[in-house]
Amino acid sequence: FEVKWDATAAEKGGWSSFMAKEISEEPEAVANTILGRVHDGQVVIPELDGLDELFAGISRIVIVGAGTAAYSAFVGKYAIEQWARIPVEVELAHEFRYRDPLVGPDVLVISISQSGETMDTLMAVKEATRLGAKTLSICNTQGATIPRESDAVVYLHAGPEVAVASTKAFVAQITGLYLFALHVARIRGTVTPELQADAIQELADLPDKIRWILENEQERIEQLAHWMADTRSVLFLGRHVGYPIALEGALKLKEISYIHAEGFAAGELKHGPIALVEPGLPVFVVVPSPSGAPVLHAKVVSNIQEIRARGARVIAIAEAGDAAVLPHADEVLRIPLAGPLFEPILAVVPLHIFAMGLANAKGLDVDQPRNLAKSVTVE
Ligand code: G6P
Repeated sequence: FEVKWDATAAEKGGWSSFMAKEISEEPEAVANTILGRVHDGQVVIPELDGLDELFAGISRIVIVGAGTAAYSAFVGKYAIEQWARIPVEVELAHEFRYRDPLVGPDVLVISISQSGETMDTLMAVKEATRLGAKTLSICNTQGATIPRESDAVVYLHAGPEVAVASTKAFVAQITGLYLFALHVARIRGTVTPELQADAIQELADLPDKIRWILENEQERIEQLAHWMADTRSVLFLGRHVGYPIALEGALKLKEISYIHAEGFAAGELKHGPIALVEPGLPVFVVVPSPSGAPVLHAKVVSNIQEIRARGARVIAIAEAGDAAVLPHADEVLRIPLAGPLFEPILAVVPLHIFAMGLANAKGLDVDQPRNLAKSVTVE
């Protein structure tokens, strides 16, 4: 009697790929990032103990990262500015490093990195330190180089991520940035206890809401991806926090299915991208909540009408219960109701599933896409 033991298959725990496994772990990635960071109805990140004076005194934050991490940074900017009322710039780490950035002791430079080893991001952190800025690493990998080179670190606890294309780390990164925003907002007194409590509740509800998407929409999204296996180009549109989600959706599709994909701010359509729209072009649109963000919702619906009038095939990602979007979209992928700032953590899940589904439909290796590495340790 011989037991056939395939170590990789065992690590995948029955899933067809690491990416499938890691998407299924998105709820836990968010939950584990929150764990131990809420005390007496307030966000308190124990690792940041002793830094209150620093956070009270900074005048600006710059967040650096690369790839998916840069898009989570972009989402985080909205929350930090809204809650902590500190101006935030997001910059690609490699651009920051080589442009003589204006940072000094009053600036906090936050780096985001799943691996903690990305050379571009590490060099940006070193440059920030050289210029006298304080550095904080938000990282998923314990003991990696970037956290070791930083003044402080917040670990995400999303668990090891093996697939090259980042999924569960992305939702954990946004969660980590939101916790950081609430931690600093508490210190600076920029949010009321009620607002803290609401935000904490929204965060705590996310894992179950992601599970709802996985249970109710995953199959349909994979089916849609299967039908679209011959697609040559896909656009992604969003506004506000939905904009970086559109960028992330496009990146993921490029990375693993090798299909041309672009993400745009929906408001920018008329300034150029609408020229790309031709009959049959699939366009994913992240639709803001009609109740939480009615003005943005109306704008996005009108953007959908503009592209639909030119023949685009619209796939809307919209809140369950948003009936207004139905007549305008060819497909509607549903996500549960959440406050406007929390919607991106839900809206990205269908996009991760879609990218994986399409790569699978094309028979590609979703875990090891060509030309890419999980952690890029050269500049
Ligand atoms: C590589 C990977 C991307 C990742 C980026 C940043 O390019 O292929 O998926 O988003 O690095 O990685 P990090 O580990 O710094 O988050």
